[in-house]
Amino acid sequence: MAALPPDPVAFRALEHAGWQSAARHYDEAFGSLTRQAVDPLLDSAEVRPGVRTLDVASGPGYAAAAAAARGAQVAALDFSSVMVELARSQNPEMEFREGDAEALPFPDGSFDAVVMNFGMLHLAQPERALAEAFRVLHAGGRYAFTVWAKPEEAVGFGIILDAIRKHGNPDVPLPPGPPFFRFSDASECDKVLKVAGFRNVDVRKVPQVWRFSASGLLFEAFLAGSVRTQALLHAQSAPALNAIRDAVGRLAGEYENHGTVEIPMPAVLAAALKP
Ligand SMILES: C[S@@+](CC[C@H](N)C(=O)[O-])C[C@H]1O[C@@H](n2cnc3c(N)ncnc32)[C@H](O)[C@@H]1O
Repeated sequence: MAALPPDPVAFRALEHAGWQSAARHYDEAFGSLTRQAVDPLLDSAEVRPGVRTLDVASGPGYAAAAAAARGAQVAALDFSSVMVELARSQNPEMEFREGDAEALPFPDGSFDAVVMNFGMLHLAQPERALAEAFRVLHAGGRYAFTVWAKPEEAVGFGIILDAIRKHGNPDVPLPPGPPFFRFSDASECDKVLKVAGFRNVDVRKVPQVWRFSASGLLFEAFLAGSVRTQALLHAQSAPALNAIRDAVGRLAGEYENHGTVEIPMPAVLAAALKP
């Protein structure tokens, strides 16, 4: 992905359009994976019965639904109307609203816990989202978010990015955004959380495994269910895309175990306290 300075307006538009069209595929391709981080995320935010909890960038609502199952009082928000509809259809008893992580439509101090599962790396201005999470928490409240570990560990990303580098062009012009793996770095999480005012920062890895019935499905998951990686794939020439598809299938095949492809995809989980 080209190293141009981030352009928040263009990048946000890319993300928004991407999620509007990828929502259902994301649910099918990534849902079983990103759900694996939900319990550690909610534990880190100390989500228990009665805790007023906000799920930001809630997507299909996995964290929100799990928080409600714990007996928390849950609000959930996403900027994609298609995601919000999907979340409502899967959780008809819950409320999901459209809104922006960088400008939360809630008064100061209205939550005990704010969580964001794999949202941070999609934001044009993540510092604004951190400031907003801080604002809507009351003193003593907990914040927790997850992102992907670096591609050397989150092997699915390693495979697809490696295939694009070898068989395509990783520098096609796309609206530049913040580095995708910025928050995979524990010291970066620590720094931005403290700058936002949080304390007692804790950053750790959560092991996760992405399972497929066939090695070709890893490529299809990225092609249909992601946003930035999808944009990168769509910008490749047809012959390059075919070569990338073949390479990803071959590499994913190395992770086949008794008929199931099992790809390590650990998350980085950062949690902190609003003092
Ligand atoms: C990778 S998905 C994560 C979905 C879900 N939290 C999960 O556990 O799988 C990222 C989500 O962030 C949402 N999103 C991206 N930018 C946003 C923003 N600025 N404000 C609110 N939601 C945003 C997208 O619409 C998408 O649903």
